[in-house]
Amino acid sequence: MLKRSLSFTHDLLAQYVEKTDRTVDATAGNGKDTLFLARISEHVFAFDIQKEALERTRALLEKESVTNVTLIHDSHVNIPLHIHEDIKAAVFTLGYLPGGDKFLTTKASATVEAVENMLEILLPGGIIVIMVYPGHQEGKNEEEALTAFVKDLDKSLADVVRYQPLNRKDAPYPIIIEKRKEKTT
Ligand SMILES: C[S@@+](CC[C@H](N)C(=O)[O-])C[C@H]1O[C@@H](n2cnc3c(N)ncnc32)[C@H](O)[C@@H]1O
Repeated sequence: MLKRSLSFTHDLLAQYVEKTDRTVDATAGNGKDTLFLARISEHVFAFDIQKEALERTRALLEKESVTNVTLIHDSHVNIPLHIHEDIKAAVFTLGYLPGGDKFLTTKASATVEAVENMLEILLPGGIIVIMVYPGHQEGKNEEEALTAFVKDLDKSLADVVRYQPLNRKDAPYPIIIEKRKEKTT
């Protein structure tokens, strides 16, 4: 049976990440991805621009007795300012905080800049998973900008795929970027 996008990405991340690796959740939100990454990696750096999102994430982690997470109240554009460690995997779940302010959604230009920055600091052989939500206008803008960005990525630096339902209109789907172990010609 075909996997739904979320279980597909979580299974994929679990294949890449080992318990000695460090990971990034670029959009903490309600903390579900942070919790998942915390369970499979040594340490997670989780970002969000909203205090409310970080509080929800903190509450979930406390409830689950998870302590290997650093919560960072800043835009994911600034990831390189906060992280000076090797990162094996990063997750971006685009859109707005469920039940929160819909205007505080991820935005195309910041998302592309953050993914570009993340790729710079990612370990060779690491992956970035970006869950795209094209069902609202800003999500469509992000889809367009991200697709243009990844199509232009040097193929000797990274491989890029997407896992997209084609017969369900505007269904969310992941774009996956794998940084190559060695730069090829
Ligand atoms: C769809 S939610 C994330 C869901 C979350 N991963 C989870 O598992 O519950 C998107 C989050 O991205 C945050 N966000 C928006 N722009 C951001 C930015 N520039 N940097 C970091 N987080 C941002 C929003 O505040 C929101 O909480």
